[in-house]
Parts: sequence; C-alpha cells; structure tokens
Amino acid sequence: MPSRLRVLGLETTCDETAAAVVQLTDEGRGAILSNEILSQVAEHAPYGGVVPEIAARAHVEVLDGLIERALERAGTRLSDLDGIAAAAGPGLIGGLLVGLTTAKTLALVARKPLIAVNHLEAHALTARLTDGLPFPYLLLLASGGHTQLVAVRGVGDHLRLGSTVDDALGEAFDKVAKLLGLPYPGGPEVEREAERGDPERFGLPRPMLGRPRPDFSLSGLKTALRLEAERVAPLTPTDVADLCASFQAAVVDVVIDRTRVALRGFRDSVGHPSALVAAGGVSANGAIRRALGRLAAEAGLRLVAPPLPLCGDNGAIVAWTGIERLRMGLIDDMTAPARARWPLDQALGTAGP
Ligand code: KG4
Ligand code: ZN
Repeated sequence: MPSRLRVLGLETTCDETAAAVVQLTDEGRGAILSNEILSQVAEHAPYGGVVPEIAARAHVEVLDGLIERALERAGTRLSDLDGIAAAAGPGLIGGLLVGLTTAKTLALVARKPLIAVNHLEAHALTARLTDGLPFPYLLLLASGGHTQLVAVRGVGDHLRLGSTVDDALGEAFDKVAKLLGLPYPGGPEVEREAERGDPERFGLPRPMLGRPRPDFSLSGLKTALRLEAERVAPLTPTDVADLCASFQAAVVDVVIDRTRVALRGFRDSVGHPSALVAAGGVSANGAIRRALGRLAAEAGLRLVAPPLPLCGDNGAIVAWTGIERLRMGLIDDMTAPARARWPLDQALGTAGP
C-alpha cells in the first residue's frame, strides 16, 4: 500500500453536496488537495428546514460536476486514487443512495477500493485530519441532527457516553431562529443576534444540569423561550437579540456542565484523553468554543476544534475517514448498504440494522 494514500470523499447525507480529495502526509495528517462543496440552503430556505425529496434531486444534479472539479483542482486522475469513500449514513436515504451509488460506480469502473463511511465518524476523526491527534480523546459532536459526547478510542471504536433525549443542539438553534423570524439555518443567525443582546434578561432553564449521566435535553429550553417570546410580543429587535443571548447563554451552561460530566466518565472508564475535541456544525459557535476552551484549560487539556469550513458537512472529512479505514484494511464491497440510521458505536463494520 502506498504511504501517501490519496482518497476521494463524497458527502450527500443532508443538504450539502460535496466532493474532496485528501492525501495522507508524512506526518500522519491529511493534506486537503481539493474540497468542493455546494450548499442547498437556498433551495430549502423557503420551507424553514431540509426537504428530503428536494435534497435528493439536488444531489443528483450536481454531484458529477463536483467530482470532476474536485479531481481537477487536486490535479488527480481517477486512476491516481487509492480509494473512493462516500458517507453511507446516517442521513436522508435519497441523498445517501446518490452518493453511495456514485462511489460504487466509480470504484467498479476504476477498480479501486470502496469505503462506506459513517458520517458521524467523519466528524469524529476531523481532529486527526487537521492536528494528527492521537487516540483516545473526548468528542463533543453537535450538529443539526446529532448531539453526542463520545470517547473516540480508535478507528471504528467509539464509546457513546451521552446524547440528547430530544432535540439536537443545532436543531434547537434552528427552531429558536424560526420562532423568532430569523432565516434558516438558524445557528449563525442566533449567534449574531446574541452578540448584541443581554444574556441575563430572560431567566431560561438549564435542563439536565447536574445529572450524573452526560445527556442533553433541549426541548424544554426551547419551550421556555417560546413562552417568554409570547409574553413580550410583539418583539422589538432588542427583544430578539436579548432572547437569542439568553438562549445561547443557557446552551453554553448546559454544554459545559454536560461535557465536564463526560470528562469525568471518560477518566473513569477510558483513561486520560489526549484532548477535548469539538466537531459538527454547532462547534462553529464562538461562545460555545470559548467556553469549551476554558473547560479544557481547567482540566489541563487542549481544545481541538476544526477550522470553520471543516466544522460543517464537507467531503474532506469523508475522504480522511476513507484514508483512516483504508490503511487499516477496512474496505467495503458492492453490497454496502445506505443506512438512514447508523449509530456511531456500530461504526466498525457496515453490517447491522
Ligand atoms: O454538521 P452540520 O453542518 O450538518 C449536520 O450534519 O447537521 O450542522 C448544521 C447545524 C445547523 O443546525 C446549524 O444551525 C448549526 O449546525 N450551526 C450553528 C452555527 N453554525 C451552524 N449553531 C450554532 N452556532 C453557529 N454559529
Ligand atoms: Zn454533519
């Protein structure tokens, strides 16, 4: 196997279509040779969320062109690749089928290994692409569909310490934005509003604070915010900013408390983490990042949070996970299924429900 593995990665799990080429460097990290991404945000915005059928069609329309561009920008021919990876789940089944079938076709035609990647594992391993981080580490994975605290012990070896019992963190940001009349996706909008708002004006609850298991619950917080918004309606721009700031402050408190509990659990059951890692779209949030940085420092750890373009969904993190699995001989065959549900702690094999 060549030491400088080069893999194409396809991402179509949700509302981003992406293709990227990544190469393993001599230092054991990833060099991103190209990272093409087309967001469908504009197509879904009128509906205030992702519409699966629109997403699947949009992936079909643009994926071929994106792959061509990703190869061209990377100065790579299909025959130069060592493997072809696609996110095979979890996600919206229509989009998954588009990406995985395309990857299978390319793998067959070019006679290259296929790697069916778990999208959550791609977020989980981003810190190794960027920083070459050694295992094990504690991961806070927070996106529009997932909120988990995970001990990342190795490739395909993940221990879920806690997760959300209702909404995902990003989903809560999106719902709050919708409620306040802010555009979709809501996370960045809420953060922008929060910057000029008063975080102490509304006393919102901090669900799950102090619980011994590091789980999250966000629907009560969202409901409390809705009731406050209804109480002060009609909302002025200051009300909106103050509601956003109060919401974000509550989220930060919850995230820090839950992560601190997970860190304790990690030390008890796994050992000493090499770092605290944040991944997924919500880890783009500056207030959450800063608070996690303080928590990490307090625990004598480094916080590794990916640069903003690698926080959200993209092809480079899928390609990198392809490299990680390929070098361990973890490849898939043409029967690899697209899996709408695929828990991270089952990421070693592709068999399962
Ligand atoms: O990882 P990602 O791009 O896609 C999923 O796999 O879900 O995450 C998207 C989510 C959305 O819910 C979005 O509102 C949220 O991440 N998000 C943020 C911020 N930027 C994106 N949430 C809070 N603050 C942000 N700055
Ligand atoms: Zn994601």
